[in-house]
Amino acid sequence: MHLQTFSTPEEASEAVANLIISRINAFGPTQHHKFVLGLPTGGTPVRVYENLAERCEAGEISFEHVISVNLDEYVGLPPTHEQSYHHFMEEHFDIPPSQTHILPGVPIHPIQIITGTDPSAASEWESDLKAHQVSCAAYEALITYLGGINLLFMGIGANGHIGFNEPGSSFESRTRVVALNEGTREANARFFEDKSRVPTHALSMGLGTILDAQEIVVLALGSNKAEAIRRAVEDGINHMTPASVLQQHERVTFVADSSAASGLKEDTKEHLKLQSQSQSHSMHLARHGAAKSLITNSTNPPIDAAIDTCTSTTGDHGQRTNARPIVTLLAKGEVLLDHSEEGDEGDSLPGL
Ligand code: F6R
Repeated sequence: MHLQTFSTPEEASEAVANLIISRINAFGPTQHHKFVLGLPTGGTPVRVYENLAERCEAGEISFEHVISVNLDEYVGLPPTHEQSYHHFMEEHFDIPPSQTHILPGVPIHPIQIITGTDPSAASEWESDLKAHQVSCAAYEALITYLGGINLLFMGIGANGHIGFNEPGSSFESRTRVVALNEGTREANARFFEDKSRVPTHALSMGLGTILDAQEIVVLALGSNKAEAIRRAVEDGINHMTPASVLQQHERVTFVADSSAASGLKEDTKEHLKLQSQSQSHSMHLARHGAAKSLITNSTNPPIDAAIDTCTSTTGDHGQRTNARPIVTLLAKGEVLLDHSEEGDEGDSLPGL
């Protein structure tokens, strides 16, 4: 786990934007090899999205070959509702709808279409629930089809929720219908006329879905997140603080402004900061130093060929496997090249 703390929300948000940009650029997405980015809504990510939009405009990053998958959506809000997360994303993150995936808040009734079942036979909620469950299963299938999430950006609730996985959520949970905690509805009432208008349920990626992402970055801003961050980072893994499960993920970075980090011990900040620095040092080495010369000076195939070996795309559907390109792994400082006597094929790399 890594932790980066910054004096202001602006600096913390810029750091997250930097991380997103560097991962996408290191990956080098193409039409047949897209980068899959998981995204949140709410107050926290707004400055990050503004920063990304500005830097897209400045030509530092392109989202042309990026696919986004959102964490969650309120049950019952159509995409046109101004508090729906569909609407939020349209407002804040300008990539073509064909590249954007958000769970449908309004139930789609495939069961009715497929089986001819009359929804009035069951209660409306039961029928809607089934339709939502089908959408959730389809969303899981979609993420698998896309080859998994390369980088998942998240906020965190004051009660430690991630996505809408409220305290008590199973660590194994997948995308599903969840009941919102009263505290969460109160916190989100600021976006609605009053709390009674905040939906009682949402569709959310599960904690298991989240843990499957290759890399995770969590942004926390403001003193109301301090206790959640402290429990997530310093306490043991506990299902009453869902974000604490991230301690068992291999590549997670918490980014906090000074208010959100104010509950952490100085020792914790120092220790986790050092880990972040050693990670960026190895990333730098991998990008510019030893690892690059290992590739170019060895008997390995040229780097483009190496990417082909490790990353399979099907020409028909642009479908990807879970394999990751060597350059990305190197950029992340994860891989030590294994020089076997026989020359190096992609599958001799540890960690694939
Ligand atoms: C929203 C989401 C939630 C929020 C969390 C914090 O898509 O997944 O977990 O990140 O509720 O919300 P804000 O940022 O409004 O404090």
